[in-house]
Amino acid sequence: MVKVAPSILSANFARLHEDIKLVEIAGADWLHIDVMDGHFVPNITIGPNVVADIKNETELFLDVHLMIEKPEQFIKAFYEAGADLLTVHIEACTHLHRVVYMIKDLGIKAGVALNPATPVSLLADIINDIDLVLIMSVNPGFGGQKFIPRAIDRVKEVKDTSTNNNLLVEVDGGINLKSGQKIVKAGCDVLVAGSYIFNSQDIFKTVNDLKMLA
Ligand code: DX5
Ligand code: ZN
Repeated sequence: MVKVAPSILSANFARLHEDIKLVEIAGADWLHIDVMDGHFVPNITIGPNVVADIKNETELFLDVHLMIEKPEQFIKAFYEAGADLLTVHIEACTHLHRVVYMIKDLGIKAGVALNPATPVSLLADIINDIDLVLIMSVNPGFGGQKFIPRAIDRVKEVKDTSTNNNLLVEVDGGINLKSGQKIVKAGCDVLVAGSYIFNSQDIFKTVNDLKMLA
């Protein structure tokens, strides 16, 4: 069954506790936390202290998506805050192998994210070292953007070329029931959804409809 990871970017930050409890009760598998620095992406969100507070509020697996330059400077802080998975962007890492092993050596999962225009083939020499590939299906920076359909073939490409049987493929951006259906069919293991979940009238139903996609 596909895992569903609500992105708190579309939650109400003034009542984050309540919004996290809603998706937790609805049966979310992971909680997706978008960290933005105003440099790698044109938006600013949250830092390690907020992640630490979230950790105290939920049992959910914390899936932390670092959209920041020089992520190596913040790996330890987000680990100490309670991240269970740290995903860095390939475009932000000069020494990707070093960053991946900084994460793995802390005993948590390591992911690598690709922007929509970054070739999947660039993963070739790191794919066997990582736990997750995050295929961006929008240009990162904001919630509520339109799904880029090319992501469907990119998920297939990762699945078809990888010999790492434990590798998870996650897709992030513009996910709703329609795009989610195509992405799950292509082999996606983890669906991230922000606005589709948090803007819905019935969060319980929306999370469960996404979980049932096959
Ligand atoms: C975008 C973020 C996403 C965002 C997705 O840069 O990485 O996680 O929250 O939002 P939706 O699901 O609304 O496209
Ligand atoms: Zn994200």
